[in-house]
Amino acid sequence: MDSYINLNHISTEELKHVDLNGVNVNCNPPDVEPQRQYYFMAKCRHIVKSESERLGRPLYACIQVFGCQMNARDSEKLAGILREVGYELTENEDADFVIYNTCTVRDNANQRVYGRLGHLNSLKKKKKHMKIALCGCMMQEPSAVEKIKQSYRFVDLIFGTHNIYKFAELLVTMFESDRMVVDIWQETDQIVESLPVERKYPFKSGINIMFGCNNFCSYCIVPYVRGRERSRRPEEIIHEIEMLVSEGVVEVMLLGQNVNSYGRNLEESITFAQLLRQVEQIEGLKRIRFMTSHPKDLSDELIQVMKESKKICRHLHLPLQSGSTRILKAMNRRYTKEQYLVLVEKIRKEIPDLAITTDIIVGFPGEAPCDVDETIDVVRKVKYDNAFTFIYSKRTGTPAATMENQVPEAVVKEGFDRLLKVVQDTARERAGLLEGKTMDALVEEVNEQDASLVTGRLSNNTMVHFKGDASLIGQIVPVYLKECHGFYYLGEKDEKTF
Ligand code: SAH
Ligand code: SF4
Ligand code: F3S
Repeated sequence: MDSYINLNHISTEELKHVDLNGVNVNCNPPDVEPQRQYYFMAKCRHIVKSESERLGRPLYACIQVFGCQMNARDSEKLAGILREVGYELTENEDADFVIYNTCTVRDNANQRVYGRLGHLNSLKKKKKHMKIALCGCMMQEPSAVEKIKQSYRFVDLIFGTHNIYKFAELLVTMFESDRMVVDIWQETDQIVESLPVERKYPFKSGINIMFGCNNFCSYCIVPYVRGRERSRRPEEIIHEIEMLVSEGVVEVMLLGQNVNSYGRNLEESITFAQLLRQVEQIEGLKRIRFMTSHPKDLSDELIQVMKESKKICRHLHLPLQSGSTRILKAMNRRYTKEQYLVLVEKIRKEIPDLAITTDIIVGFPGEAPCDVDETIDVVRKVKYDNAFTFIYSKRTGTPAATMENQVPEAVVKEGFDRLLKVVQDTARERAGLLEGKTMDALVEEVNEQDASLVTGRLSNNTMVHFKGDASLIGQIVPVYLKECHGFYYLGEKDEKTF
């Protein structure tokens, strides 16, 4: 037994190098995290190994991302654990284990999950040992879980957003049970770090700097399914980024529902702008992005830091939601049309080459065509580089869902189409501004349509395609932006400066 490792006596740092085959899974699991999860990973490894021996082939797992960047980042954490316990990862749903990481921000996200579950059921009928798990934001809604328990009884495991760090433990429970395992927590104040992560890209990564949201915009379900706002300590964030950079990451995306309120719940107070200053100092890191900025909390200090920075990308996502002050008030956004416009003017004056994108909702309860006119007016004045336009979706449990004056579908559609046209027109005006210039692009992949081209991302988030091969992936390359084709450029590698 001496050759076994006892996880109770091992530090979080050392855990990363533990050979899970040497962990004693016959003793009781440790009480502390993340040691406890490493114990369950070791246990799960045995289960996966014997199943794979029985089948005479590796076991495959497939994770589907249904939501935002946080959802994608959570999926990387799940993938890390799956890889650690012995699964091969695949994009193909005809796998031994399929996990849907769900989203519930709009009803169509939920409907997509239900639609695709039917298909999974037919796959499972042909493959009895197949396991299916559902997790993510939609699972934090009791009505969705109830529906799955009733009508989708072939699902093996359901868990939520607060306990994803317990994935290894849940996997073991799932394998040891012959019934559906459901574990949903209402809240958590725990932030468990140092678990394995399987990144989608070797050269760029998202980093959670905070979890949850305290803003309670009246249409939005996120604060209910993600819980209260919790910031990670700056030293943990910096440490994680340093580790990533040592593994080859050159671009990070700092993630939070409202990064501008970062640090408010921490004992030692720190602002988002101060955090950015620290991240900027990390040697080897080339690019910094962040998402999302709430206009009400965007400080002058942040504008200054962005302006002075050599690494922060020239892109700001600044959700407007509506251009009508009356609707903004009902949405509980806590800024007026005028305040938003003044903010944009200030930002544009300080950082003229910044691309600004936004989110807009059409059809919020009580919205009249004249309110859409106000939104259109803002779009014309700001000239967004891109705007994501959404039709209002009623989310049960939010204040807006019980507002009486819900807008008829035909009126919403008319407003949506009118807005979309202006969004497209103004975005077209902005596109092409960089034509004829040479800009740095981070090469992300070989072009899907034409293998003689690679695709890179400019600092302002626009894509450029140019001649090159896979050896350029992950490199930052100066590219001459020859022609603008709507939302992307065709370019040429600038050999003089590369
Ligand atoms: N925290 C971020 C984004 C959260 S969700 C922020 O505040 O900007 C992403 C986008 O989904 C929101 O910006 C909003 O435009 C949209 N959205 C949220 N709830 C919605 C709803 N009920 N109906 C339609 N769109 C919604
Ligand atoms: Fe939702 Fe508003 Fe929070 Fe964004 S800031 S997640 S829109 S409540
Ligand atoms: Fe993101 Fe959807 Fe949840 S947008 S936070 S995955 S509800």
